Amino acid sequence: MNTKTVFQFISEPSDVNYGGNVHGGSVMKWIDQAGYACASSWSSSYCVTVYVGGIRFYSPIKIGHIVKVEAEVIYTGRTSMHIAINVFSRNIKRKEFEKKTHCIIVFVAVDDEGNSMEVSKFAPQTEQEKQMEKYAVKLMDLRKNIEEEMKPFFE
Ligand SMILES: CC(C)(COP(=O)(O)OP(=O)(O)OC[C@H]1O[C@@H](n2cnc3c(N)ncnc32)[C@H](O)[C@@H]1OP(=O)(O)O)[C@@H](O)C(=O)NCCC(=O)NCCS
Repeated sequence: MNTKTVFQFISEPSDVNYGGNVHGGSVMKWIDQAGYACASSWSSSYCVTVYVGGIRFYSPIKIGHIVKVEAEVIYTGRTSMHIAINVFSRNIKRKEFEKKTHCIIVFVAVDDEGNSMEVSKFAPQTEQEKQMEKYAVKLMDLRKNIEEEMKPFFE
């Protein structure tokens, strides 16, 4: 089964923030869209975003640059799919992309009533896929600790 989805497009004037570069909100929307395309292709079902974590914007994306959003299944649970997202951009006059953002986004497959449903199990084959699956599991453990820390402030 296909684990990877790649979007490529040009950042538009409507994506601009108050400083003249691409708005962080636009990047978050692209992350959600590419993640959704990847997760729904894996599960062949409608999916909902259940968690987005650790978004780090390394440097600004310019308007009119080519943006590449790579989304890849790196772990599946019973109903969830953990998708690693990398966002790159490049000036149209240059060949090399620069990495701009990375994060993990988790989707859950849902049925017509909005109830979570089982997904096919992702089985890593390559060494890199095995490392990425380990990374997803490690992040899950870290999240449990963070959620415990946050509880007193958000419940
Ligand atoms: C997604 C949803 C249907 C899950 O409901 P549920 O089945 O009762 O929830 P569960 O506790 O059984 O969790 C379902 C999966 O989500 C995962 N999950 C829950 N909280 C999570 C978190 N903080 N981080 C990562 N995964 C999480 C669970 O581990 C489980 O995965 P698994 O089946 O692979 O083990 C429900 O939470 C929902 O509808 N949320 C809103 C989604 C939405 O509207 N998104 C758009 C936001 S605008």
